[in-house]
Amino acid sequence: SGMFTYDPGFLATASCESGITYIDGDKGQLLYRGYPIDQLAQKCDFLDICHLILNGDLPNKEQKAEFDSLVTHHSLVHEQLHFFLRGFRRDAHPMAVLTGLVGALSAFYHDSTDITNPHHRQVSAIRLIAKMPTLVAMAYKYSQGQPFIYPQNDLSYTGNFLRMMFATPCEEYKVNEVVERALDRIFILHADHEQNASTSTVRLCGSSGTNPFAAIAAGVACLWGPAHGGANEACLQMLEDLQANGGVAKVGEFMEKVKDKNSGVRLMGFGHRVYKNYDPRAKLMQETCKEVLASLGLENDPLFKLAMELERIALEDDYFVQRKLYPNVDFYSGIVQRAIGIPTSLFTAIFALARTVGWIAQWNEMLSDPDYKIGRPRQLYVGPQVRDVPSR
Ligand code: CMC
Repeated sequence: SGMFTYDPGFLATASCESGITYIDGDKGQLLYRGYPIDQLAQKCDFLDICHLILNGDLPNKEQKAEFDSLVTHHSLVHEQLHFFLRGFRRDAHPMAVLTGLVGALSAFYHDSTDITNPHHRQVSAIRLIAKMPTLVAMAYKYSQGQPFIYPQNDLSYTGNFLRMMFATPCEEYKVNEVVERALDRIFILHADHEQNASTSTVRLCGSSGTNPFAAIAAGVACLWGPAHGGANEACLQMLEDLQANGGVAKVGEFMEKVKDKNSGVRLMGFGHRVYKNYDPRAKLMQETCKEVLASLGLENDPLFKLAMELERIALEDDYFVQRKLYPNVDFYSGIVQRAIGIPTSLFTAIFALARTVGWIAQWNEMLSDPDYKIGRPRQLYVGPQVRDVPSR
C-alpha cells in the first residue's frame, strides 16, 4: 500500500533526465543535442547523426572517417544468422522476423556485453547500428525468395542498404542518388524522439542490466504497434483503401467517419502525444516526397494528391483544429518509401533501423548515470480484498 501518483499513459511523468533530444510540442520544434532537425536534415548524413546522438556532437573530418569505417567494419552478420532466419515462414511479417533476429544477436556476442564497461557498450552500439540494415535487407530478400546480398563497404550507409535490398547477383546495381538522399533523410528524421513508447521500453528493459541486443529487441517489438511505428504502414494502407474506394471524391465522406467516435477510424499519420503543432519532421518529409516523386517521374502519384487533400481539409476542420491534430512524420514517409520500391510491410522495419541509434544511445545514457535504478512502476490495486480459498 502507499500513495502513488496515478498517471496512466505517463502524460505527466518524466521517467528520466536526458541530454539527447529536445521537443517543444507547442512550437513544433525538434532538436538533436541542441541542433534543429531541419538544419541537420539539410547538412548532414545519417552517420553524422548517429555520431551526434551517440557521442554528443557532430564528428569532425577525422572523427567522421573513423566512425564511418568503424560502422562499415561491423556490417556483416554471422553466417549462422542466415540459418536462424530460414526457420521463419517466408510470409512472416518483417517485424516478427526483425524482433527475432535482433534478439538472436544477443546469442552471438558474449565477448563485449559487460554493460558496466563503457567501451563494451560502445562496441554493442556500433554493432547494432552497423547490422540493422543487413538484417532488414535479409528479411526482405528472404520474403522475396532472392539470395542475400552481402554489404559492400565502399558505399554509403544508405547506399549499401539500398543495394542489399534491391541488387541481385544477375546484374549491375547502381544506387540512385535522389533515392539514397531521400532514404537517408527518412533515417535522420526517425533517429531519436526522446521518451516515446519504444525508447521507454528499451530503457525499462535495459534497466534490469539485461543484454543490450535483448533490450533493443524489446524496442523493436514495441515499435511494431499501429499507434507507434506501425502508423506508417497503417497510413499507407488507409490511403490505398481510400484510393480504391473513390479517391479524392470520397475524402469528405471518409473524414466524417474519422470524426465519428463510434467508427473506430482514425486519420492515420495525424496527431501526436507531444506535438500540438505541425510536426517539423512532417514538413521535411513532405518536401522529400515532392523531390522523390519528381525525380522518378511520379509527380501525379494519386496517393500523394490524396494525402495533400486530406491534410488540406483536416487543417481547416474544427475537429482537428480544436484537438491540435497535425500531420506527423508518418503521413508522408509511406508515400516516399512506396515510390522507392519498399513494400508497405517493411516500413516499420525501416523505422526500427533508423531508431536503433536513438534506442542504444538512450540505453547508454541511462547506464552511464551512476545513480540509475531499475525501473519499477507502482500500481493502484483494484482487485479483490484478501479472502480465504473455499474448501474444494
Ligand atoms: N484521427 C482522429 N482523431 C484523433 C487522431 C487521429 N489520428 N488522433 C487523436 N485524435 C483525437 C482522439 O480521438 C481524442 O479525441 P477526444 O478528445 O474527443 O476523445 C483526441 O484527438 C486526443 O487523442 P488521444 O488518443 O487521447 O491522444 P494520444 O496522445 O493518446 O495519442 C496518437 C497520440 C499519436 C496515438 C494519436 O494521435 C493517434 O492514434 N494517431 C494516429 C496514429 C499515428 O499516426 N501514430 C504515429 C505517431 S508519430 C510516429 C510514432 O511516434 O511512431
